[in-house]
Amino acid sequence: MVQISTLFSGLAAASTASAAFRNVIYFDQYHTAVLPNNSLTNGVTHVITAFANSSYFVGGSTMGDYTPFLPLDEVRALFSNGTKVCMAIGGWGDLDGFRAGALSNASRSAYASNVASTLTRLGYDCIDVDWEYPGGNGYDYKQVPNSDLTAELNTYPLLLGAIKAAIGSSKELSIAVPGLERDMIAFTADTVPSINAAVDFVNVMTYDLMNRRDTATKHHTDVNGSLATVEAYIANGMDPAKMNLGLAFYAKYFTLAANTTCTDGPIGCPIALAEDAEGQDTGASGAQTFEQSSLPVEVSSASLVATTDGTCGAANSFTCTGASFGGCCSQYGYCGATSVYCDTGCQSAYGTCSTTATKSVAESFADALTNGTEDVLRGGQWWVDDEAGLFWTWDTASIIARKFTDIIEAKGLGGIMAWSLAEDSYNWSHLEAMQEGVANLAANMTTALKRRQ
Ligand SMILES: *[C@@H]1O[C@H](CO)[C@@H](O)[C@H](O)[C@H]1NC(C)=O
Ligand SMILES: *[C@@H]1O[C@H](CO)[C@@H](O)[C@H](O)[C@H]1NC(C)=O
Ligand SMILES: *[C@@H]1O[C@H](CO)[C@@H](O)[C@H](O)[C@H]1NC(C)=O
Ligand SMILES: *[C@@H]1O[C@H](CO)[C@@H](O)[C@H](O)[C@H]1NC(C)=O
Ligand SMILES: *[C@@H]1O[C@H](CO)[C@@H](O)[C@H](O)[C@H]1NC(C)=O
Ligand SMILES: *[C@@H]1O[C@H](CO)[C@@H](O)[C@H](O)[C@H]1NC(C)=O
Ligand SMILES: *[C@@H]1O[C@H](CO)[C@@H](O)[C@H](O)[C@H]1NC(C)=O
Ligand SMILES: *[C@@H]1O[C@H](CO)[C@@H](O)[C@H](O)[C@H]1NC(C)=O
Ligand SMILES: *[C@@H]1O[C@H](CO)[C@@H](O)[C@H](O)[C@H]1NC(C)=O
Repeated sequence: MVQISTLFSGLAAASTASAAFRNVIYFDQYHTAVLPNNSLTNGVTHVITAFANSSYFVGGSTMGDYTPFLPLDEVRALFSNGTKVCMAIGGWGDLDGFRAGALSNASRSAYASNVASTLTRLGYDCIDVDWEYPGGNGYDYKQVPNSDLTAELNTYPLLLGAIKAAIGSSKELSIAVPGLERDMIAFTADTVPSINAAVDFVNVMTYDLMNRRDTATKHHTDVNGSLATVEAYIANGMDPAKMNLGLAFYAKYFTLAANTTCTDGPIGCPIALAEDAEGQDTGASGAQTFEQSSLPVEVSSASLVATTDGTCGAANSFTCTGASFGGCCSQYGYCGATSVYCDTGCQSAYGTCSTTATKSVAESFADALTNGTEDVLRGGQWWVDDEAGLFWTWDTASIIARKFTDIIEAKGLGGIMAWSLAEDSYNWSHLEAMQEGVANLAANMTTALKRRQ
């Protein structure tokens, strides 16, 4: 009965942390229109507002006065009394402030002290450092080679230590860390122990496990892939009780390579080039949130108006048809005539599209949600749209439930985390699954403790 001892050690490990199981959600500034009521957010322990620019804290002329995108009393009102409100700094594409702040003893103490004074000034309870990523593989990896950043393997833990010392024990320090092993450059067996010692908890970004730098399909946030990420951190010395497993409240899509049908399942189908030689997005892939606005809207042709400024789409009902800007309306709402406008994502309701793009991303997404299937072996939902030539990968409520047992419980993790709150506003099914998982886990812990008394 191997399972019994495995289960018991999992429960034992988790139960030591169960008193303070973390239920963490990011709240990003781009999704604030539709917000959940308090019954859906009840029990959330930390909400992390995202993002403050990392350059604010370097000091000098770039310091400025960071203003949260929503006053913190309004953020607090969305949650239970006692929910901690944390400030995330950085995020994808924001590296300058971290690089400057980490450089030397002097810059690290200035940075840490500016972080601490900003938390106090604004009334935040905690700070989340989203450096994507120390050591390299960031958005500019083609311009700044990883070999130029090796010093960050030492300076990143030192910066974290300086921040923790400056904010003190009454405020928590967390970090967001990469999901893919290829990006864990600064998270080795040598560095993880000092990172682990500096932080209160770790938000593991177990999503985007397939991204635009890949060449073949796989799930972006499946059970198996998420488990592999967590195991890699544990192997390098991260304390499981400090880790929060990351959930994605969005789906991802990738354009399949020409003539690919993907009949053998979700893994390994070749995709079209999604990132160019300069590291730029080619437009062949993207993310679709679980919001009403991600799904198709009925467009009556009578309501369309010829574009006056080259923009198009649902926001202004402008059509590109007959426009001097080009006749295709891109997924981002601009008229043009090249493949960026006319192929993947082209909105046929607001112009013409190339014959290979007969369907919008929103239409394809709606079909994916209806027709998707679960890869039970790996724990990932997926679908191939042959008509649009797209591969879709996302999480369902039942897969989220599996993550609680197969990863959090099995590995004794100390929390769950999701990116991000209002990206699930279509019907809140992912947020509800997360809340149910936390409740089930708590109930199991109580049962396990009773049995052992
Ligand atoms: C909160 O929102 C959910 C989902 O929209 C809804 O089912 C529920 O009735 C709401 N609860 C309250 C107290 O308004
Ligand atoms: C939350 O705290 C406020 C102010 O302290 C109080 O008025 C309110 O009743 C509390 N709400 C709950 C649900 O405990
Ligand atoms: C952050 O601020 C710096 C300095 O003002 C600016 O150059 C940079 O573009 C900003 N980064 C982001 C991601 O907004
Ligand atoms: C930087 O700080 C470390 C540890 O706090 C110390 O050992 C080192 O001497 C300092 N270096 C300089 C140049 O001040
Ligand atoms: C699960 O993940 C592991 C580690 O990445 C991998 O070796 C294994 O093949 C995966 N299992 C399946 C069924 O894909
Ligand atoms: C791939 O598909 C295109 C049409 O999209 C067709 O012209 C071409 O012959 C196909 N190539 C192969 C190798 O099947
Ligand atoms: C999706 O499934 C429905 C039936 O549930 C079917 O009518 C429809 O054709 C399917 N759509 C696609 C694009 O496969
Ligand atoms: C909620 O939306 C998801 C898609 O995000 C869908 O799969 C699910 O069936 C919906 N649930 C309900 C109760 O409508
Ligand atoms: C809790 O216990 C139930 C019943 O034993 C089990 O099915 C489930 O996987 C356990 N874990 C969670 C997180 O619900």
